Parts: sequence; structure tokens; C-alpha cells
Amino acid sequence: MNLPPYIQPVDATHVRYRGRRLVYFGGCDYYRLARHPKLLKAHARASARDGLGTGASRMTTGNHPAHDALEAELKKFFGSATATVIGDGYLANIALGQALGSCSRPFDGLFIDEHAHVSLRDASQFIGCPTTTYRHCDAADLAKRLAKRKTTRRLLLVTDGVFGATGRIAPVAELARGLPRGATMWIDDAHGAGVLGARLRGTVEHVSPGGLGGCEVIQSTTLSKAFGSFGGAILGPAWLRKSLLEGSGIVTGSSSLPAGYATAAGIAAEMLRSRPGLAKRLRRNTEFVAAELRRVGRAFVDSGFPVVSLDCPERGSAMKLRRRLLAGGIYPSCIRYPSEKKGAFFRFAISSEHTRPQLESLARALEL
Ligand SMILES: Cc1ncc(COP(=O)(O)O)c(C=O)c1O
Repeated sequence: MNLPPYIQPVDATHVRYRGRRLVYFGGCDYYRLARHPKLLKAHARASARDGLGTGASRMTTGNHPAHDALEAELKKFFGSATATVIGDGYLANIALGQALGSCSRPFDGLFIDEHAHVSLRDASQFIGCPTTTYRHCDAADLAKRLAKRKTTRRLLLVTDGVFGATGRIAPVAELARGLPRGATMWIDDAHGAGVLGARLRGTVEHVSPGGLGGCEVIQSTTLSKAFGSFGGAILGPAWLRKSLLEGSGIVTGSSSLPAGYATAAGIAAEMLRSRPGLAKRLRRNTEFVAAELRRVGRAFVDSGFPVVSLDCPERGSAMKLRRRLLAGGIYPSCIRYPSEKKGAFFRFAISSEHTRPQLESLARALEL
């Protein structure tokens, strides 16, 4: 299998593809902060001062004031007891798996959503305890499987907060209700963080603002989607930070996040906190597209998340939709993961920066 042809960004909402300037609904840069002049300038200034890379892990000589500053901002943003910055979101999950697998109170049962992100599936192998896969977002199936388990003293549930391919939001409150007291829920909020919830803290704030009862929550995320930069982070209780520093090979053996990205991510988080207009625009745009698709009878996961995903397993129908999108001046964002059996799907991510005419042209192209 070859890599797909490359696309060249032109501005916040356009790309150049095969010689044409097209409206872009790909990727996960929900506020288009990756091109924000303030962030680009901060990144360039920090890189000029501190270098492109740190050249070492945080546990050796790669610790930098920009990491501390970003962690302080993330603690404020998420309201978490601790924040630990890691090289990227995938690595953050691996680091978390390493830490949870080596902590002093080991887990003896792990339950994971069947569609969990590949990084979570990889990371769960570090936990070193029996693993059970439950049906996608299905709290009843989880309950059935929990009832069958042999005695579990310390239980870990692992799920994406938002499933990025479809925009489906995990029913975290229902899942938590079925768990024994004192269980831990690990939510990979790569998509939900910065997008969902009154303070943009992510899936739990959106689904269950009062928290998840007796369930301990650990959140991992990327800084490359809503935050427009690069990097990963883990938010959680104090014991977790200690376990990460003491038990993760990523923290000791992988180069730390470059200062430019750390600085830009911190500014992005501060911008999202202080400029509610950004999130308001994203919600308005999401609701507009959803209302248009409902009006024309197009079936989609109508979760309120800014992603529209359409399965297109047959080549003929995929080609037809591709032609319609191109005729409407839209980049045909078709995805096919080599490891997945379900075939191709089109995924459209709505951003706060798309204009009303751009959103209208997307809705028109998706009319049945
Ligand atoms: C749910 C989820 N987790 C983790 C990651 C990995 O994040 P990163 O791209 O920062 O490595 C992604 C990236 O697409 C993701 O969608």
C-alpha cells in the first residue's frame, strides 16, 4: 500500500491538491491554530533562542522551563492536580501504559473499547493484566463482561473520549456506573480536549460535568489537534505523576518536547481559555452543518462533535462522492486504514474558521 498523495496547505481553510485550490475539511486542527500568527511567532522565537530540539529526555538534560510553563497552563486549563508533558499524544499513551504497569498498586483487570485508538491498544500491553474488549461504546455489554470476571481488586477501563474517525462521544457516565467503586477510567481525549465541555476540558466535562462519581479519572491528550501545536500530555492525580517519572521509559529515554512547540501549545491553551468566541464559532459551525444534513436526510453520527463521517465501502459510491466534492471545490478527504476491514470512509472536520459559504458547499455536496 502506498501513502496517499500529499496536499499543500494554502491558508486556514484551503489546500492545493493536484493543481487546484480546494476547501479543506481534513485533519483535526479544529480552530486552525496551527497557522495562527501569534503561535507561529512564539514558536519561531523560542526555537531561535532554545534550538529546534532538546536533544535529551527530561530525566537527563532535556528538561526545560517551557515544559514547566506548559504544565502550569495545562493544570489551569484542565483543573487537574498534575499535568505531565510528553513528546506527542501516541507516546503519552505509551508512557501512561508504562507508568500504570509499574506503579505500586498494580491493576488486575483491564477493559477496553473495541474501537479504542491504536495507541491505547499498544499502551494497554504494558499494563500486564488480563484484558477484556467490550463492544464499541456499549455500557450494557461492558456490564455483562464485568459480571463474568473473576474477582478484580483494581480495575482499569480504557476508552477514547471522542472517537475521532466518527465523532462519536463515549458514554463515559454510563460506563462509569457499571464499574466497581475505586475503579480507574483512562480517557484518551485527543479529540475532546479543547473542544467539549463548558471550559473545553473534554469529554467528562461535556457528558457529566459533576464528574464520574467514585471513579478515578486519568486523561491523556495530544497538543496537535485543538491546541494547534505538537506534543502530548497526561492529566491526573499526584500518584500518577510520580509513577510517570519513576516508571516510564519514555520519560527517561525519549527526547523531550521541543521548547517551540511547548511554548506555542501553552499560548493556544491560554487563548482557548480567554477567547470564548473561538469555541462559540466552532459550535455554531458544527450545528449549522448538522442541521443542514438532517434537513437533507443524510445519516451521520449526530453527536454535536465537529466531525461528519460517512462510510463508503464500495468503490463506486466512493468515486461518486469524490467527484461531487471536487465539483463543489472541496478536498475529498477519504481515509482508508490498512489494518481496518471496514473499508474507506470520508471524514469532514468542521473548524471555527470555515465560512458560511464553505459550510453550505459541504452540505450541498453531501446531499443525497
Ligand atoms: C485518539 C487519539 N489518540 C492519540 C493520538 C496520537 O496523537 P499524536 O498525533 O499527538 O501522536 C491520536 C492522533 O491522531 C488520536 O486520534
